[in-house]
Amino acid sequence: MQSYSLIAPAKINLYLEIIGDRPDGFHELVMILQSIELADRIDIEASDTQDISIRCDHPQVPLDETNLAYRAAKLMCDVFPKMHANYGGVNIRIEKNIPVAAGLAGGSGNAAAVLVGINLIWKLGLTQPELQDLAAKLGSDIPFCISGGTAIATGRGEKLDEIKHLADMWVVLAKYNNIGVSTPWAYQTYRQQYSDTYVSDTAGIKFRTKKVHSSPLLTAIAHQESQEIGKSIHNDLEKVVLPEYPQVAELKAAFAAQNVLGTMMSGSGPTVFALCESEQQAIAVRQQVRTQISDPQLKFWVTKFSTSGIQTVG
Ligand code: C5P
Repeated sequence: MQSYSLIAPAKINLYLEIIGDRPDGFHELVMILQSIELADRIDIEASDTQDISIRCDHPQVPLDETNLAYRAAKLMCDVFPKMHANYGGVNIRIEKNIPVAAGLAGGSGNAAAVLVGINLIWKLGLTQPELQDLAAKLGSDIPFCISGGTAIATGRGEKLDEIKHLADMWVVLAKYNNIGVSTPWAYQTYRQQYSDTYVSDTAGIKFRTKKVHSSPLLTAIAHQESQEIGKSIHNDLEKVVLPEYPQVAELKAAFAAQNVLGTMMSGSGPTVFALCESEQQAIAVRQQVRTQISDPQLKFWVTKFSTSGIQTVG
């Protein structure tokens, strides 16, 4: 029976700017996305029935059709019914290492891996852009999860411009186990509080979208200047999430006090990351912040930037 093992890296946002509303109810965004080495592993095999099954031993991961990985498999069955009939369904096993509901695109990465895996099992021969078109139907971050590395994401987050990939930067991530932020809540609250800053005309949206190309962060990335990268990271959603979750704001302040390159919430949170020059610094920062905030619900990960999206292993 055909089977594949895939690595699905998490992502952090180095930049997230909300430009305005879109006719489809989503927001027009400009983001800079970065893969990190913290990753889930997905094993996928052809089933001897027509069904899709999910196994995962993480208590917060649903095993039914609400799981994005399930929906990715279902999408492939619907788009390629003959292949589904021919090869059968798929059994998916998820080894969860990325924290759940954390702003790290863990669920999106799992869905991306399922699209890549089924493309291989069913020998569809879809190109990366073709897979990314399918991915965009499932979620805004999923096209990026397929290609990974460092990229500018615009539109809903699904339009990608690859830029020079960053590597060799270390990251400490921290997340409270008992705090989860709803992404729709974060965007809705932002709309309630900041819609007076929204741009709605096409020319205005184009102008704001293009501005990122001349931003200090992009210049810093082009020159691989880690100090400048750390100083230029930005996330508009912090403006609504940090006041609502004071513990997350305190966590960011604790990282900022450690002389890191930069610290920020990823996506809609509540994960906070700190950029570090070296593994040694990242480990020391983790130790300091752990000592300062002794809450057992606070979990840490030390990882580094990755230049990869979904990769097959084994
Ligand atoms: O696309 P995804 O499933 O990741 O989006 C989750 C939610 O985040 C959406 O339902 C929407 O409320 C919000 N969102 C948005 N604009 C975007 C991306 C996400 O408003 N560009």
